[in-house]
This record gives sequence, C-alpha cells and structure tokens, in this order.
Amino acid sequence: MANSRIYESGRDSLSPNRNLSPITTELDSQDRLKIGGCLLSELALRYQTPLYVLDEVTIRTSCKAYKDALEKYYPGESLPLYASKANSSLAMSSIVNSEGFGLDAVSEGELMTAIKGGIDSSKIVLHGNNKSEKELNLAYTNGVTIVIDNQHDIDKLKSLVSSNKEPARLMLRFTPGIECHTHDYIKTGHLDSKFGFDLDNLEKILIQLKDAKWSNLIGLHAHIGSQIFELQPHKDLVGVMIDALKLARGIGHPIEDLNVGGGLGVRYVEADDPPSIDQWINTVATAVKESCEEKQVKLPRLLCEPGRSLVATSGVTLYKLGSRKEIPGIRTYFSVDGGMSDNPRPITYQSLYKACLVDRPLDPPVQTVTIAGKHCESGDILIKNLPLPICTSGEFLVVFGTGAYNFSMSSNYNRIPRPAAVLVHSGHVDLVQQREQPEDLLRYDVLPNRLLELG
Ligand code: LLP
Repeated sequence: MANSRIYESGRDSLSPNRNLSPITTELDSQDRLKIGGCLLSELALRYQTPLYVLDEVTIRTSCKAYKDALEKYYPGESLPLYASKANSSLAMSSIVNSEGFGLDAVSEGELMTAIKGGIDSSKIVLHGNNKSEKELNLAYTNGVTIVIDNQHDIDKLKSLVSSNKEPARLMLRFTPGIECHTHDYIKTGHLDSKFGFDLDNLEKILIQLKDAKWSNLIGLHAHIGSQIFELQPHKDLVGVMIDALKLARGIGHPIEDLNVGGGLGVRYVEADDPPSIDQWINTVATAVKESCEEKQVKLPRLLCEPGRSLVATSGVTLYKLGSRKEIPGIRTYFSVDGGMSDNPRPITYQSLYKACLVDRPLDPPVQTVTIAGKHCESGDILIKNLPLPICTSGEFLVVFGTGAYNFSMSSNYNRIPRPAAVLVHSGHVDLVQQREQPEDLLRYDVLPNRLLELG
C-alpha cells in the first residue's frame, strides 16, 4: 500500500531526519492521524487551514542527536548552532536555546528573533554576503560573532568599529571549492559561489586582518550546500579547513572555532536515504580529530550549523481539499487552500513531498491525483501523482516534511495571508505563529491623496 509507510512512527527514533513523519506520529482508535498526541483533524478545525504543525519532541530529539554525537565523537569543545533560516521564530529560538544550541542568523530579523527568543549573543553568529551597516552594528553592539564574507564586510566593519575600544569578534568564511550532489541553487561550497572569500585569497586576507585593531578573528567558516546525502564532501571539507586553520594560526590569529556549516539532508520521500545525525557528526568530528593529529594542529572548538535536519521532519502542513478538475486520460487536479505561498519548494527546486488524508491514512489508494495550490500560476503544484483513496472536498490533507524552508520562505503572493503555526507536545497545543489576516497585508500600503482625488 503506497501510503502505509508515511505515518510510520519512529523508524529511526534517534535521527528524525531519516523518517518521513514526526516521531510522535500515531493513529487513534479510529485510525486517524495524531502528532504530538493531537488529532490532526481537530487541529485543522480549531486553527483552520493551511496550518503548520511542529512536533516539539521531534525537534528536541534532533537537537539531542547533535549534542550527543558531538559529545561522543569529538574530544574537544563543541557548539552546535541552529541555522535559523530553516524556520526562524521566537519559539524555535527558545527550544534550541534550551537544548544548548547557539544560532546562525543572516539578517536583522533573524538576529532579533534569536536575541528575543533567549539565545545568548555570545552563541550567535551573523552570516550574509551583503550585510547592511544596521545589521553589522546590531551584531557588533550585542557581541554577536560576525562572519566576514567579503572585502565589503571588512571595509564596513573597519569604519564602524575603529573608534570603539572592543574589537569585533569575527569568523572568516571562505569557499572551499568542494562539489557535492544537490540542487544547483543550494550548492555553496564550489568555486563559483557568491559566498565567502576565494581560497586563493585567503592568505592575503588573513595578513590584512592580522594587525587590524578593530578585528579579533576567532574562527573560520565554510558551508558546502544543503540537502546533502554524501558524507565524503564533508570529510574533504574538513581537510581543507584544517589547512586553513593552520595557515591562520601560523599568521598569528588566535583561531579557536572551526565552523563546518550545515547541509545534512532529510528524507522527503521513500527514495531519499540520508545518513543519520550520528553518522554525519562522526564523519566530521573524526575527520577534524585525525586531520589535526596528522597536521599537528591544536584541536579547535567544533561548530556546525544544521538547519533542515533539525526541523524539516518535525513539521507537517494541513490543508483542506477544495475543487477537483478531471481531465480524462490526462490528469486529475485536486486543489488545496494553500500552495506555493506557504510551500515554495516544489516550484523553486522541484522538491518532492509525501501526503495523505488526515483521517483516513489507511484507506487503500484507488486514484492518482495532482495536488494543486490555489495561486494564479500553473506551476503552483504541491505534489504530482499522489495516490489517494476516493476523497471529497472539505477533507483534510497532511503534507509531511514541511518544517524547514516552508514558513521561512513563505510569501504573500496573490495577497494570501501566511498560515498559523502550532507547536504540539503530549496532547498540548501552543500557537506559535498567528495566522495573518488580509488586513495585515494592507498595513503598509499607502494610497496617495493625489490618486484619491483623481478618482
Ligand atoms: N549554514 C549556512 C552558512 C547556510 O547557508 C545554510 C543553508 C546552513 C548553514 C544550513 O544548511 P542546512 O543544514 O539547512 O542544509 N532554501 C533551500 C535551502 C537553502 C539553504 C541555505 N543555506 C531549500 O529549501 O532547500
């Protein structure tokens, strides 16, 4: 039965990124789907659809998997950072903080969300290939570590910090020149990337920073891409990074932190087979340890920045089925009440998702339908060729694996308000994101009097 594995709970209870659904997924006595002890159809009725649902146990299990593996495989100090671009909210900041994580932010908004969510500034890093003065200033005045990405950052920081006493805490990002197999848009470590200093220029930049009074370079950073299933590129990355570490220390920088970025993939569909969090950390930590031994380099503090593998599997999106269009011999479309504005990944990266009916996940599929969004765009298709039982408008559908890069990449295309988000745990529900209202979308519109007068 095509749907039988979707809601299967706890296939890998230690590494949620290897599952299709949150680890608390179960059926009630009437075979209806529950997550975090909450019946999905009740959530849909109470909070309306589309609705993002996040399972707290799955997020915390993922955090623990990272912490435990670092403890197990890395003999030095370590600090995992949550790449908040995956899903930035006060609730997420607070959860990862309580699990001992720091956080990676890339904008003023993500930075404020982290700080207000309780993350200590000393455990936050600010990334970005075009940081504004305001962002740099906010980070600097809060003692956030700034990841310098290019000469522009250096020039701006120099004028921002020079008159102050305290030098800026910096990490330097470079492009390691490593290819990995993922979608072109989410590769970052190969040479033709907009991020980071070229490896060839590294020595020059390190020398330039050496005597800069405003700078305190304490770390090196590289990130090779996202949704990666291979382990070898991460091993290769470590080799390149330890060479860079040796070079930087040799020049006289007090480098303590080695930040290897994120990138571990997750299972969206059965065919996806990512390594576990334990395997990923084992690979990275062992490579750092061995490479440091081999090159006679003192162990750095090991930092990593998982985003997707921390939250993707914890999230599902609930939709209501609406109109149906059957084109005989070609395709049957079933439209839902959301689409590319709450999940832009299928139209952007041709990403695949699994879904089933919320209250009848066990009913055998008898038809193949294409789940379309409600936006005025032909490409607004969430899932092609989904096997489903006979279903009717008004029934709820759950799409799995939507915890990462859905809400954070959502838009108001067609002036459609963003969905609400709830966090479920042991039968409790907390609203963590209010549903936007159409009026909210008009808040920043300005109708000039001149136009009104013209009628
Ligand atoms: N660190 C840096 C510097 C990054 O640029 C990223 C992701 C991460 C960490 C986290 O990577 P992760 O563990 O999530 O793979 N919107 C795309 C993904 C873009 C990833 C951007 N950078 C998607 O929906 O697939």
